[in-house]
Amino acid sequence: MFRTRRLRKNENIRRLVRENKLSVDDLIYPLFIEEGENIEKEIASMPGIKRLSIDRLKPELDEVVSLNIPAVLLFGIPSEKDDSGSETWNDNGVIQQGIRFIKKNYPQLYVITDVCFCEYTSHGHCGIIHNNDVDNDATLPNIAKQVVSHVKAGADMVAPSGMMDGTIQTIREALDATGYYQIPIMSYAVKFSSSYYGPFRDAADSAPTFGDRKTYQMDPANRREALREAGYDDLEDADILMVKPALSYLDIIRDVRNEFDKPVACYNVSGEYAMIKAAAEKGWIDGDKVMMETLLSMKRAGADIIITYFAKEVAKLLKNS
Ligand code: PBG
Ligand code: ZN
Repeated sequence: MFRTRRLRKNENIRRLVRENKLSVDDLIYPLFIEEGENIEKEIASMPGIKRLSIDRLKPELDEVVSLNIPAVLLFGIPSEKDDSGSETWNDNGVIQQGIRFIKKNYPQLYVITDVCFCEYTSHGHCGIIHNNDVDNDATLPNIAKQVVSHVKAGADMVAPSGMMDGTIQTIREALDATGYYQIPIMSYAVKFSSSYYGPFRDAADSAPTFGDRKTYQMDPANRREALREAGYDDLEDADILMVKPALSYLDIIRDVRNEFDKPVACYNVSGEYAMIKAAAEKGWIDGDKVMMETLLSMKRAGADIIITYFAKEVAKLLKNS
């Protein structure tokens, strides 16, 4: 008889033969920073996650640093929106102020910024609208302005999420031309048009007011196309390739892992978080265990880095285990 159970006898031998491990080193924690003062708003569909103004960030950042989480991913919620999302390149905008606050008070924390427009545009789309659709090439110069503004404020890395063609090349050229050739780009290379973003759009107030994002984000049915998307970003010199969402796209994470010799990140998105939280609240699953198993599956699929709203909880569990 072939016996596979011998190496499962007890936890010691299981530890020795375990192939994949979650570590705090893998985690990036997203933060929602809202313009204004004294703001601390719970997000109903994302229990435990809040929109905070800069003056209320301290306890959150203290916790992130004390848990040894290496990086945060910043999303800004401005008080004013317009057609083009011009607040994104305002050197005194909410995200720029947030970056300066964090780098001044928590210099050890690595600050990554989400680069997009949907939280900043009156129509909620990820760029400039022409003829009822996002105009790719009209949006690119604004992406360049936005990244330079983030990096001038002190961002350590930029993460463009808008799925415009040519984004990585545009950003690389803009950063190199301004002397920021050492700033890496984490590309949302393979981002699907997903219903799992629902809770985030409430959180970030970024739902499109008309239409959907299907002309720029990928069709969830497509697997080969994901490799083309990642391939172009690879050639344009993205430093890290991301797949988003994560849980329903583990096959894509594995494909990207196998195809490219660059770090692979995945985004454990808001809807994935909300489902686990909701089922746990009902007592239908063990929330902590399902959380750990879910994130481990992303590692097993090939992700090096996991962006997750669970980061603090995972870090706490790992610390105590
Ligand atoms: C915006 C953006 C989205 C997310 C990250 N950046 C939503 C979207 O594309 O509508 C999703 C994050 C999440 O659901 O947790 N471009
Ligand atoms: Zn967007």
